[in-house]
Amino acid sequence: MTLGVVIGESKPTAVTAQTSRPLSVGEYVVIGSQDGKLLGLVERSFVSSAALNDIHNYDEAVESKEVADLNSRDKSYTAKITILGYLTDLQKSRIVLPAIPPIPGTAVLNATKDDLGTIFGPQKEEWVRIGTLLRNSEIEAKVNLNKIVSRHLAILAMTGMGKSNLVSLLAKQISGLDGTLIIFDYHNDYPDLHIPGINVIDAKINPRLLDSNTLSDVLEIRENADIQHRILRLAFTHDVKEAKNFWDALDHNVAMIGANPERKDDRHSADRVQDKIDDARHRFADVLDPDIMDPLGLIKEGRVNVLNVSELSEKQANVALAYYFQELLNDRKAALLAKNSKNKEGRHYRFDSPIFVIIEEAHVFIPKGEDTHTKYWAAKIAREGRKFGLGLCIVSQRPRNIDPNVLSQMGSLAVMKIVQEDDQHQISSAAESISKDLITQLTSLNVGDAVFVGQWVNLPAIVHIEEVKDKVVGSDKNAVSEWKYAKKFDRVAVESTQGLIQKDLLLD
Ligand SMILES: Nc1ncnc2c1ncn2[C@@H]1O[C@H](COP(=O)(O)OP(=O)(O)O)[C@@H](O)[C@H]1O
Ligand SMILES: [Mg+2]
Repeated sequence: MTLGVVIGESKPTAVTAQTSRPLSVGEYVVIGSQDGKLLGLVERSFVSSAALNDIHNYDEAVESKEVADLNSRDKSYTAKITILGYLTDLQKSRIVLPAIPPIPGTAVLNATKDDLGTIFGPQKEEWVRIGTLLRNSEIEAKVNLNKIVSRHLAILAMTGMGKSNLVSLLAKQISGLDGTLIIFDYHNDYPDLHIPGINVIDAKINPRLLDSNTLSDVLEIRENADIQHRILRLAFTHDVKEAKNFWDALDHNVAMIGANPERKDDRHSADRVQDKIDDARHRFADVLDPDIMDPLGLIKEGRVNVLNVSELSEKQANVALAYYFQELLNDRKAALLAKNSKNKEGRHYRFDSPIFVIIEEAHVFIPKGEDTHTKYWAAKIAREGRKFGLGLCIVSQRPRNIDPNVLSQMGSLAVMKIVQEDDQHQISSAAESISKDLITQLTSLNVGDAVFVGQWVNLPAIVHIEEVKDKVVGSDKNAVSEWKYAKKFDRVAVESTQGLIQKDLLLD
């Protein structure tokens, strides 16, 4: 179907078209150029009225509207279209731009399923369905999972725009392919996902395996409490690490240091450290477990693993994430080494196949301008993970606070609505494949709409992501109905003490 005609001055990379209906920004169209069909993306769209131009007062506007309504030639629909390449080449995942600009007068056509299907929804096992193109809604939008496991992914958007929904959808698709996924769940969002064999576990830290600085972090000893740090370092000896009862042994050593009559000043600080140890043993007993020898052993291969870190403080979560990252990277290295070595005796690794790891609140754990344990290992995975089959996905509502080096290593991006200019700027400097025009689109996206760029798609795509309905993740609390419910039961409680329970109150 013909939509319009190329007008004005054309370039090999962009044309202007006059069309019979207003085109949507983000819509794909076909330009029937002289030497083969070209695929175009509408980057800007304008509507104007000849009669309603240059109006100075209300009466004039009303009169001109009547004139405009009577004249079928009054409206003008203009679109700026970026040329993405020859359609047949794009269908073979190649980008070839024309040498000669499309001649003015060339037809602009509707893009059909045949035109777009193979580009956005290839029929291959590694391409999984995520939704549809936003403006060509009959076209399936798929992504290539191989590319995100080998070259990483960032999911960036304001709160409530659908990041966790996309994570849930990816989890379902990965599960359908028997892949191994680990989600570090900071908000307890994912345990209810309906996924067969989902493995929901609490992240644990074995304090024996830490160094003394990291142990200080886990015990939440203040950064500037130098004496406490020193006491812990002195007390955390080899014998303590090997002791049958770890906490007792550590506590004992700290007490001994505090009791040194020559260093009376240490007494108070040692008491503080003992308090911290006591706190850790009781308050964080579920998290800090000196008897768990292999925290990685809880993760199951070929499953979706949800590691609950919601009970941990930020510092503890940081230590836990770093620990798992380090162990996973080492495990994948060992697996690869074993594969390439002739000596097949003994097995010193756990996972046989690639692993995909997702962390939310990435700006907390991989912050700009600050060193954290997690950041060190995340940066290492971002750089080296590809060689070993360890893919990373970082999710954040504050891209401007993520370490730019790590962000720029993410080979693919899903970006939903973002209005802050700092955030948009950070995204455009991290990903060269996202054009200025696409960035300006970000403010006008609705919940569940996203711009996909990078290696997991054949072409930048604006998509509407499918909603994962069977979950309750992050849904906004309905305060009004909860108040009503609470109030009703208050009444029931009062009335029941007066022997006045009304049947209808209990029934609805
Ligand atoms: N693709 C989508 N289509 C329709 N609704 C969606 C979509 N993605 C998310 N939502 C809804 O928006 C709300 C917030 O989504 P969520 O994924 O938790 O956002 P975020 O993780 O970015 O804060 C949820 O209630 C969810 O049902
Ligand atoms: Mg979320």
